[in-house]
Amino acid sequence: MDSKISQIINNLFAVNATVHLTRPNPAFGDYATNVALELSGQLGVNPRVVAEKIAVELQKTGDFSMVEVAGPGFINLRVTAKSLEDSLQSVWSDNFGSSQDGAGKTAVVEYPSPNMAKPYSVGHLRPGNQGWAVKKLLEATGWRVISDNHLGDYGAPFGIWVTGFLRFSSEAALEKDGVYELGRVYIQTKKVLKEEKERGETELADEVQSWLIKLENGDQQAVDYSARFNKISLDHIHNVMARLKISTDYEMGEAFFAPRGKEAVQKLLDSKIAIKNNDNSIIVPLDDYGFDVPLLVQKSNGAALYATTDLATILYREDNWHPDKVIYCVGAEQQFYFSQLFAMAKKLGIKTELYHLWFGTIDQKNDDGTREKMSSRKGVVLMEALLDQAEARARQLTGDRDVSDDDIKKIALGAIKFSDFAADRRTNILFDWDSIFALSGFSGPYIQYAAVRVNKILQDNQNIESSLSDYDYEAEKAIIVRLLEYPDVVKLAARDLEPHKVAGFLYELARDLNRYYETTRINESEANQKWARVEVLKKVSFVIEDGLRLLGIEVPTRM
Ligand code: ARG
Repeated sequence: MDSKISQIINNLFAVNATVHLTRPNPAFGDYATNVALELSGQLGVNPRVVAEKIAVELQKTGDFSMVEVAGPGFINLRVTAKSLEDSLQSVWSDNFGSSQDGAGKTAVVEYPSPNMAKPYSVGHLRPGNQGWAVKKLLEATGWRVISDNHLGDYGAPFGIWVTGFLRFSSEAALEKDGVYELGRVYIQTKKVLKEEKERGETELADEVQSWLIKLENGDQQAVDYSARFNKISLDHIHNVMARLKISTDYEMGEAFFAPRGKEAVQKLLDSKIAIKNNDNSIIVPLDDYGFDVPLLVQKSNGAALYATTDLATILYREDNWHPDKVIYCVGAEQQFYFSQLFAMAKKLGIKTELYHLWFGTIDQKNDDGTREKMSSRKGVVLMEALLDQAEARARQLTGDRDVSDDDIKKIALGAIKFSDFAADRRTNILFDWDSIFALSGFSGPYIQYAAVRVNKILQDNQNIESSLSDYDYEAEKAIIVRLLEYPDVVKLAARDLEPHKVAGFLYELARDLNRYYETTRINESEANQKWARVEVLKKVSFVIEDGLRLLGIEVPTRM
């Protein structure tokens, strides 16, 4: 539609204009454009006159049931459903207008980056969901994406694990509870360490330290423990990621970068960006970037810090992947840290766009109606427990219908993931079992159900004969207008790294569909209408499936 108008403008005034169509209040038309206002300065002609001229030509095309010049020179348009369907056909055959904004560019997307010592908790749910969706959106718009799981696998845990295991656990308990036992031991040992410190003693702390030294010296027993605990932890992380249906190309954690930290810090010292304090600790002052706190990059005992491994990571990625953009999918709590880290990178001359893709917390409603960060009585909510519960809910939802385990898992994940995209990612989301499974509201299952229903109609009408006719598509108009928005929705969601825009679109589309079924009985349509309608529904099915795929959600076969 917009290219048709550009063509008319070119014929009339011999200028190239980009036409932006907006969606006005439906009372005024299907689309509107202010292109005449934009052109009038350039042409030196009154905007209303420009608009009138364009309007006359638009009338002649026969594509519009109404062309109206309003106000100082807006053009309001009502398009015939038939011509909209023509546009839909051409968008459809053009790969659904897929944008190639990212062609030739590389992005590194980092998610979900959990920490080794603990069982996977809901704390790393949003990083995974948002990261995966962003990866899919970028790929859909032509970017090359390298995904990396920046595991928190460096530092104290090992010594705490071994000491705690020997004192407070057993082979049998480890055998039985795996990572959950390691997590329990870790928490208990930390607590005892704290108590010991308060008493001014160091026995346990010394033992922790001695295991770390043993590991460093390659002591066989220490190496064996380390390998074993790491494997238990990593297998668990992989299991949970598989259940969440997310994966990454690389898995380079803090431990991989820690040994490179020294060199990175040296680089900072050499370029006079960092300062060595009297106690041998090293800091990077960032007052020229508006931070009154410097960034600590090396402790006085020489140990690497979070910022040190991150600096080494940045340098590694620059050297090996040459990205145009690096996206860190990490919660809002680390905003200050990342802004410091990025400032330090700038000082070092890194030109790559480093972007902290942050998001709010997952909250829950307490019995008294107040809201707080999701937790269980024991502390964190475990991801596996949440998934089990979601699957039980999905079973409940499908009742005694014959729904496969595979479909149940898709519904459970659909509910959990879609809720992540309920609003702009920066807002805290409220996790509420009833609403994330509501078949009549903004929920994953609501969208999935819309897709299942369309697919059923398509299946029932697989063999209908094509019947080209002069069908007017009036009944399908709202759906067609909506489908035509899809390419732009994806393009903007990818540009702004805002997957919730896709979710919002899918919700509107599902609502359009439900309104459509209220007035139109596909199976009772006349033959020629039916074929045309089924053709539109094929595109609906494609778009819902594609949109959900971008959010990491699959469409079940039945539900
Ligand atoms: N493991 C960290 C955490 O759970 C997140 C890592 C984020 N990525 C990074 N490059 N610092 O808090």
